[in-house]
Order: sequence, then structure tokens, then C-alpha cells
Amino acid sequence: MTPATSNVFHEVPIDLGDRSYPIRIGTGLIGTASTWAGVPSSAHALIVTNTTVAPLYAQALSRAIAGKHQTIDVLQLPDGEAHKNWQTLNLIFDELLQTASDRKTVLYALGGGVVGDMTGFAAACYMRGVPFVQVATTLLAQVDSSVGGKTAINHTLGKNMIGAFYQPRLVVCDLDTLATLPAREFSAGLAEIIKYGPIADMAFLDWIEANMQGLMSRDPALLAHAVRRSCEIKAWVVGQDEREAGLRAILNFGHTFGHAIEAGMGYGQWLHGEAVGCGMVMASHLSQQLGLIDSALVDRITRIVQAAGLPITGPALGADRYLELMQVDKKTEAGEIRFVVIDKPGSAVMRPAPDAMVRQVIEQCCVA
Ligand code: NAD
Ligand code: GLY
Repeated sequence: MTPATSNVFHEVPIDLGDRSYPIRIGTGLIGTASTWAGVPSSAHALIVTNTTVAPLYAQALSRAIAGKHQTIDVLQLPDGEAHKNWQTLNLIFDELLQTASDRKTVLYALGGGVVGDMTGFAAACYMRGVPFVQVATTLLAQVDSSVGGKTAINHTLGKNMIGAFYQPRLVVCDLDTLATLPAREFSAGLAEIIKYGPIADMAFLDWIEANMQGLMSRDPALLAHAVRRSCEIKAWVVGQDEREAGLRAILNFGHTFGHAIEAGMGYGQWLHGEAVGCGMVMASHLSQQLGLIDSALVDRITRIVQAAGLPITGPALGADRYLELMQVDKKTEAGEIRFVVIDKPGSAVMRPAPDAMVRQVIEQCCVA
């Protein structure tokens, strides 16, 4: 079967000077040649994916990009957050070297945030940088991880602690791929969509709240709007602060608690989005304890997270362990943990908080 030659997509630009690129959002994108316009042609391309996503979408992608590259290899990584580590990263380098990949080889990251973060990191490192494209196939990747150039692997001592800022040449969000996503993964993606409301756009939070049932039933028009608006907000933030000197940290709302849950439970036990959902509830309580927001907003965020099918109660790691895990965070400075908190509806800031207050939040929000 030959690929379709043209299609319609909505573009959200990421404005970063000579590192600018578009996010293309629409249906029927992966298997269509025109989706890939602007990606450099090269003798060789490597599609990096995993054992779950490859059987679903790798063949369609290979066919659609066949006009751009003389040879296309497909590398299937083991699936899961537990594999986002050095050993798996090395599989990408092994493949690149074994196929004599050169500086023009294009990497296509076909999958969710795990494949995207690892492929991006490999692209940043191989020969000190080769072009890469994000082909986001989870809701979480389409609304967050594929956009903005954060790439990383986990360390047993801390989540995403080893990585690089390295921008893709293009991000493609084919909404059709969301049809095959398991329910738990779909809810995990909703967490990162909800995040954009309290930190940046309360009108979007109103919209999410009003349309949660339709989103949960994967209504295509609602999903298209949710992905577009999320990408617009992320593009606005990243365009102002690519390397997280300040503003970009707001995208980490819920992540300090969330990363502690992920690392503390063992990577893959709680999905990243589940941990972020629960982490946002905890960070909302902390915002209230700091006197920044009222309990009505905390209750509202909690209800929305719960309606998305996400946990609102943290695991019983114990306050000491939470604090120990949260020390290992990229926002920590001189040993002081800094949290992203809501300072008023639709706005977030980074703040330290007294240990006693954090302990109180943990006791309030976690299984005893
Ligand atoms: P994931 O990549 O593990 O994907 C979730 C699961 O869905 C996997 O089993 C995957 O194989 C499967 N899958 C993917 N697409 C599918 C499809 N269309 N149909 C069926 N199954 C499919 O998880 P995720 O939630 O996409 O990403 C989480 C990761 O993203 C975390 O490691 C997190 O740290 C990272 N992240 C990075 C950023 C960033 O800015 N770089 C932002 C947020 C999250
Ligand atoms: N997901 C957080 C960021 O991109 O900065």
C-alpha cells in the first residue's frame, strides 16, 4: 500500500530562533508523506520505538518517510518506565553504530514519553547531535513530553536526573493513535492537561471540568482541542524560557511530590501521570498551607483529578522518605527543596516550604 500524499493538520509553532519547529496535530498523520515535510532527507533513518508501539505504527511510519531516506531501520526497545535507563539508552547507541549511522541520520522517536525522552537524549549525544523527530503516540506525550526538548533517563536515585535540553525538528501528534491507548495511560495523559489550568489558564480548567466526561470517552473533537490548547500553553512557556531559568519550572506543578512517588514506589508502579495527578493535589494543599489559595480551589483541583480516573491519595512512603526523595530534584538548590505552588488561580511560582508544613501535607494526603 502506498502512503497518502496529503492531509490536513493544525500547526502550533515553537519559537526558539534557529531551533524553532512546528507541532503538527491532526488525524491520519503518521501514514501520510506530507506530514513529514521539512524533516531533512538523509541516506539513513532510525525509527526508535518499543515492543508495544512497533506492531501498531512502525510500518505506516516507515512507508510514509520512505521517500526521504534510502535505508530505514526500526529499533524496538523494551517497554516501560523501568527501562528508561543507561542499559536501554545503550541499545540505541549500539544500533546507531552497528548500522554505521552518520551525522545526517535522522532519529524518529515513535511512542510515548519514555521512548521520546530516551531517543531525544540519544540524538543529543550521538556524534554530539543528530536530528530527531518526535512522533508522539500517548496523550501525555502529545500534550507535554514531546514538546520543548527536555530529554532524559532515570537514575535509581532520582527521576530524569541525567539528560539534556535538545530540541526535535518536528513534533507530530496523530490523534488516531489515542484509540489504542489503554485506559490507565489515557488518564495519565489527562493529568498533564489538567496541569495547564491552575498554572496558566483558568478558562481552560473550566473547559476541562465541563468536558471531562466527553474527554474520558475520547470524543475526537474534544481531544483535538485539549491537545491543541495544551501545546499552545507549553509553546508559550518554552518560547520564553527554553532551559528553565525560571518560568518553565511552573510546568513542574505536582512533579516534586510526583517524582518522589515514582522513585519511591519503583519506576513503573505508579505511571508518571498518576503520580503527577496525585502530586498536584498535594501541591495544591501546600499552596493553601502557604496561604496562597483557598480550600475551594484545592477541592476543585482534587475533584477534577479524581474525575480523570487518577489517584488523589499518595502511597504510604512515610514523610521522612518523601523528604529524602524530594531532595533529589532538579529544582533543589543548596539542599533546599523548592515546590511549584499556585499563588493565585491561573498562576504558579516556585517556593521553599518549611519541613513541618510539608510533613503535614504528606500526612493529610497519603495513606497512613
Ligand atoms: P510511556 O512512554 O511509558 O507510554 C505509556 C504506555 O503506552 C507504554 O506501555 C507504551 O508502550 C504504550 N503506548 C504508547 N503509545 C501507545 C498507543 N498509541 N497505543 C497503545 N499503547 C501505546 O509513558 P508516557 O505517559 O507517554 O510518558 C511518561 C514519560 O514521559 C515519563 O518517563 C516522564 O518522565 C516523561 N515526561 C517527559 C516530559 C518532558 O518534557 N520531556 C514531560 C512529561 C513526562
Ligand atoms: N514537563 C516539564 C517541562 O517540559 O518543562
